[in-house]
Amino acid sequence: MRKKIVAANWKMNLNLTEGGNLVSDICKSLPILAENMQVLIAPPYINITSVVSQLSGVSNVFVAAQNCHQEASGAYTGEVAASMLSAAGVTYVIIGHSERRQYFAESNAMLAQKTDQALSNNLKVVFCCGEPLEVRDANNQNAYVAQQIEESIFHLTAEQMNSVVVAYEPIWAIGTGRTANTAQAQDMHSHIRAVLSAKFGAEVADSTSILYGGSCKPSNAAELFACQDVDGGLIGGASLKAEEFLGIIYAMTK
Ligand code: PGA
Repeated sequence: MRKKIVAANWKMNLNLTEGGNLVSDICKSLPILAENMQVLIAPPYINITSVVSQLSGVSNVFVAAQNCHQEASGAYTGEVAASMLSAAGVTYVIIGHSERRQYFAESNAMLAQKTDQALSNNLKVVFCCGEPLEVRDANNQNAYVAQQIEESIFHLTAEQMNSVVVAYEPIWAIGTGRTANTAQAQDMHSHIRAVLSAKFGAEVADSTSILYGGSCKPSNAAELFACQDVDGGLIGGASLKAEEFLGIIYAMTK
């Protein structure tokens, strides 16, 4: 059975104290998570070790990094290697968020390298894809997203795909308050599953979790998560407040 996952992407928000308070508030009211359910928290790098220790002993809640470098080590001032994340107790790494693609010029080819670094260091990957508004308006979103997936993860083996979660985040819905409607989300998620199935086979496609991201909040999470091919969410703004993030976690557990 594929996993249901709700992931918090804090982006460049919350200092050590604020992040620590948020994690302890979430833990206080966390519902019981079934075996196939996970919660991920992706804080800024500097908070990672403290969130890892706060979550030690908390079942089914894991720390994710928001990025990793595409090289194993070396003279890359300011960067963090996948091996360092792994050694710090990180379980997942988000690869290819649209903000990384847009502001840090991360190409599909570079994201393929980052994915390899993550997987070879025993990290699981949350691979993000999603189209800008002009592509959606031209109704070319399916081809656009398929190409992102082909160029960044099609080189993996079926076995490696067990460690990959896909997150579909239409750029026009991120931080805009404009959510994809359930039909748009379901259509794209089933398209992504078909793309994965054509390359890796139905078994891999059926067991890959595909998360929706983009203005997901407690008021719309339940209907999005009820879509057949939507296996949870990647949450930005609404993950910064315990009550809102918990509301979305509760929507997954129903
Ligand atoms: P948002 O961000 O929930 O604030 O729209 C989602 C994301 O970028 O992961």
